[in-house]
Amino acid sequence: MKRCVFLGLGHYVPERLVTNQELTTLMDTTDEWIVERTGIRQRYWVPGEMGGSELAEHAAREALTRAGLEPGDLDCIILATLSPEHTFPGTACFLQARLGIPGIPALDVRNQCSGFIYGLSVADAWIRSGQYRRILLVGAEVHSTGLDISTRGRDVACLFGDAAAVAVLGASESGERGVLSTHLHADGRFAKALWIEAPGSRFHPLRISHQMLDEGRHFPKMNGRQVFTAAVQRMPEVIHECLRTNGLSIQDVALLVPHQANQRITEMVARQLGIPMERVASNIERYGNTTAASIPLCLYEAEREGRLRPGDLVVLASFGAGFTWASAAVRW
Ligand code: COA
Repeated sequence: MKRCVFLGLGHYVPERLVTNQELTTLMDTTDEWIVERTGIRQRYWVPGEMGGSELAEHAAREALTRAGLEPGDLDCIILATLSPEHTFPGTACFLQARLGIPGIPALDVRNQCSGFIYGLSVADAWIRSGQYRRILLVGAEVHSTGLDISTRGRDVACLFGDAAAVAVLGASESGERGVLSTHLHADGRFAKALWIEAPGSRFHPLRISHQMLDEGRHFPKMNGRQVFTAAVQRMPEVIHECLRTNGLSIQDVALLVPHQANQRITEMVARQLGIPMERVASNIERYGNTTAASIPLCLYEAEREGRLRPGDLVVLASFGAGFTWASAAVRW
């Protein structure tokens, strides 16, 4: 039976380190508040003009090297982001040009914190059907140029970091290793609980006005409590769904890789599932929430630390804007 397997992982974080202490010079906040509520101590922001495709190119080249492949060995790019480099075309097209591989399909996925798992689900189906053999799956975000870095936006601005992380995916005929299943959900009734309103094509006659800019309607807005409550309900639910589908239990999971939204969310999810924190990946302390990049960034670090061994059961899970939530089981 053909399965989609991970052939190589790569990552890139920009060089500008932004500590909580630095944020206190930009807005009315404290290191204690941020650490206590979120677990975040620092994040990385781009030092100047730098798009998601540039971050992704560095990550992709590392992943390809680790997989023993060249860009020309890829036959598809799927790139998840909520911070596209431009309104159109998709960031995957810019990445494809950077990698110098014209002709292959370049698909953008717009599912926020669940983007990597949504993309994995598409890639898994394409690989199992035989449509594509080697897919570059990317999570890339440049949040910092879109944040309200002031006291007005402090609830959101302290959370997010810039990064890219990627997986090169391929096919295995053995049927033992690889993606076992993916599970995707959304509930658009809560679309405005975490969103950026403008610019938007529904505004007339222009997508953004000076007044909207003055009101900060181009910055992310979040109902933090609503997001928190839904995340700690939906993530355990979708992880149970994933385990049930495969006839597995939480004891079988060698590593749970949750989207890094907030350390308190991760700990509450782990407690509800009854999985010890030693078997839960967490790096939010160092990177903040990097949205589509957060799960592959955790996978990258876990592999480098020797926490992913062949045959291990790895479960990925996410919750984020949309609302969207998702999970995947992978036999490493
Ligand atoms: N520094 C200092 N104070 C801050 C702050 C900051 N960075 N951000 C908000 N505050 C203030 C608020 O203004 C509020 O002040 P008030 O009581 O005078 O109105 C106070 O802190 C408490 O805010 P509240 O929103 O009740 O805090 P909270 O305990 O809900 O924590 C979050 C806020 C954002 C940390 C929390 O709701 C959360 O983590 N939600 C999920 C967010 C998330 O994961 N989003 C991404 C999903 S992918």
